[in-house]
Amino acid sequence: MNASESHHPTAGPVQPEPDQDKAAREAEAGSFFRYMAEYVGFTPADAALIRQTQPILAKYLPEIVGDFYTHLLRYPLTRRLFLLPDGTLNEAYLTLRMRHLSNFWLRTAEGVYDDAYAGYVDYVGRAHTSRGADPTIYVPERYVIGQVGMIQHAISRAVSNELRDQDDELEFRAVEAWDKLMMVLLEMLARAYGHEREPEADGAPVPVDADWVHALADQAITLEHGAAEHGAAPAQPPRRVAVATAGEIPDGQRKIVAVDGLSIGVFHHQGEWVALRNSCVHQGGPVATGALAGEVLTCPWHGYQYDLRSGRCLTDPHAELDRYAVTVAGDTVFVDVPRGGPVAAIQAQDAPAALQSNEFRAADLAAGQMLPLTVDGRSILVYNVGGTFYATDETCTHAQGPLSIGHLDGKVITCLLHGSCFDVTTGAVVCAPATQPLKTYPVTLDGDIGRVTIA
Ligand code: HEM
Repeated sequence: MNASESHHPTAGPVQPEPDQDKAAREAEAGSFFRYMAEYVGFTPADAALIRQTQPILAKYLPEIVGDFYTHLLRYPLTRRLFLLPDGTLNEAYLTLRMRHLSNFWLRTAEGVYDDAYAGYVDYVGRAHTSRGADPTIYVPERYVIGQVGMIQHAISRAVSNELRDQDDELEFRAVEAWDKLMMVLLEMLARAYGHEREPEADGAPVPVDADWVHALADQAITLEHGAAEHGAAPAQPPRRVAVATAGEIPDGQRKIVAVDGLSIGVFHHQGEWVALRNSCVHQGGPVATGALAGEVLTCPWHGYQYDLRSGRCLTDPHAELDRYAVTVAGDTVFVDVPRGGPVAAIQAQDAPAALQSNEFRAADLAAGQMLPLTVDGRSILVYNVGGTFYATDETCTHAQGPLSIGHLDGKVITCLLHGSCFDVTTGAVVCAPATQPLKTYPVTLDGDIGRVTIA
């Protein structure tokens, strides 16, 4: 695989679609959906059956998503979309795609097929073509068709496994309902291609570590939906975590914090507090670090825009950023984060003592992980390299890419924007295009509390 074939984020703002287009698009997609549904005999009773099987889908989703991506990673023409410039797998981007795919199937299994849903499927179809929000991404139609088939089989198997011994009549009707819905979805996704055709090309399949992909899918879905929607445990209330002192975030400022593997932007905006997930719905860019003009937050990667207070995406009206409740008690700012994230390192404490801005809990940072801190207005990234903590500036010295969403491998951090890499223990440049080293900062440990010293 030629590294230049790999996909990585590119710069340049995307123009938002006006809202009247959205309403017209949804109405058109809704009418097409209903036409296809009628054609294949998909009825409201089928929709109700699908809703009934949602817990089954949720239970099998990690396996289904794991299989889906294992397959895509085997074929060079689909694999190339998930590679870093150095040809290795882009784990952060894979995780993001897994989250979006799981959202798609859980929403589909809700059984509500209105214009808004049809508009969403229509948007997903276009996302794979040059008419999506990112015209540089193109997924040849044959792979989408193949994957719809694969998911159809996987859902049929899951439904049969779960219902066969309980109610074989229900099993039959539910499988049939899903089959009909899949025909409609296939046509909805395929029609996005219009007359676009890609040249035939092939490539020998490559070996894939399926266990690794499944573990990643499991982690991505747990992070997105928590353990409850896996069909495992009942829903748990969110956990209240102290993330800052109020004095650290004056009005008009923000702080990026990491809790249980989630990066969260905490904003103090015109007297109100807002906490948003720091992961753009487009490519997982560090949206909370973007420019804020009035109420509009713009992701620094491709210009996706969001309404700060609601998290609603203005560029893609079907998407929104996760929001978390913020409580300020005394001088401490708390954020309610969902339980069940992949990094269960922070012990559940209802109100842990607030940390200083340059401090972190060593238990929050397992080996191989990174934690962003804002100290005196400076963005710092702390790393755990084999049990020893290091800290550097958080922005790449090349084009100011945020290293917190980069890839840490041993002691080398790779920037997702252009592939520059640095030795985090010394700050030295390991690979171009960066030429300037990263500034480093001493880290000391006091019991479980790590402390970064800014000279
Ligand atoms: C059953 C078939 C498929 C479904 C249901 C599906 C679903 C989705 C969804 C929900 C999104 C997110 C749209 C968004 O919120 O931005 C997406 C985007 C994407 N999908 Fe698929 N997908 C399918 C097949 C494929 C295949 C075969 C590939 C091949 C590599 C692929 C690669 C991508 C990529 C690269 C994006 C990102 C597009 C962008 O950022 O503009 N998908 N897909």
